[in-house]
Amino acid sequence: MHMNRLYRVLILLLGIALASCSQDDQASATEKAVKSETSAVGGSKNLSGGVISTAEAAPAKQSPELVQKGKELYGQNCIFCHQPDAIGKPGIAPSLTNQEFLMTASDKFIMGTIRDGRAGTGMPPFAHLGRSGVEAILAFLRDHAKRPNISAKIDKEKQVHGDERLGKLWFDQICSTCHGMNGDGYARGGTGTAIGKVGFLGKASDGFIRETIKVGRTNTRMLGFSGPDGMANMADSEIEDVIAYLRTVPSK
Ligand code: HEC
Ligand code: HEC
Repeated sequence: MHMNRLYRVLILLLGIALASCSQDDQASATEKAVKSETSAVGGSKNLSGGVISTAEAAPAKQSPELVQKGKELYGQNCIFCHQPDAIGKPGIAPSLTNQEFLMTASDKFIMGTIRDGRAGTGMPPFAHLGRSGVEAILAFLRDHAKRPNISAKIDKEKQVHGDERLGKLWFDQICSTCHGMNGDGYARGGTGTAIGKVGFLGKASDGFIRETIKVGRTNTRMLGFSGPDGMANMADSEIEDVIAYLRTVPSK
């Protein structure tokens, strides 16, 4: 029964390997395929298959005073790693003004991450800025949003019931090329964040993880994994398998 699904993983992996240069080792094959794909479309790729739709109205308006205060605090505390306009830098810090990130991440997720940081990664805690300081930075980041936030909807989605053993197969072969074995992130020399650590998993809902896997993040190396334009066209059940596996990683 599991055999059919196992075959699908292997066939998709073979496709990814063939799509990249043959002299590359397996570890960098996925990254290479992504780079060529990204440059081929001028770095702006929009995938279908997730909840995100372009037909939605304008995002919530931020107070200009708060945005200005947040911009100053951002410049003093965050710009060094997250870069001007928070566009991020591969292997240093993720983008915080990426449109899919701003659409899918809740205020609670962003503020909690700023306050607590992510233990075992390069993201330090900023509890000393106080709630008002963190709120100002949030307003500055949200001011970059072009579309409304959908976190209330996706955070309510049902919890996963995937097969963690199949998920591990996907993770080890595909996700780990960027996110590191066990999702250790930059520490393993990758360009993806530490999605196997409690600092991320303790704050991210299944819906947020699911949507991120499906649609990816435009202009970063995280391409979506759903639909014919995806890195690999993963079935919904296969995405559930990966999330189920991710949830088990911190205890291992
Ligand atoms: C080619 C590299 C690459 C591959 C392959 C890849 N990712 Fe990512 N992923 C990234 C990057 C880079 C980011 C962060 C975007 C940024 O830097 O702004 C990211 C972000 C994420 C996030 C959000 C994490 C956060 O900190 O908010 C999740 C969840 C995620 N990826 C899951 C996966 C899963 C599951 C797979 C395998 C099915 C996968 N990724 C494969 C590069 C990759
Ligand atoms: C010393 C470098 C550094 C500084 C300074 C820093 N960060 Fe980070 N930040 C990181 C890294 C590295 C990550 C990714 C951690 C991981 O691998 O999961 C991150 C992740 C994040 C995330 C999660 C993004 C996502 O995709 O889920 C948020 C939100 C964030 N930082 C906000 C901030 C804010 C706001 C500041 C300033 C108050 C700040 N950071 C300062 C390095 C830094």
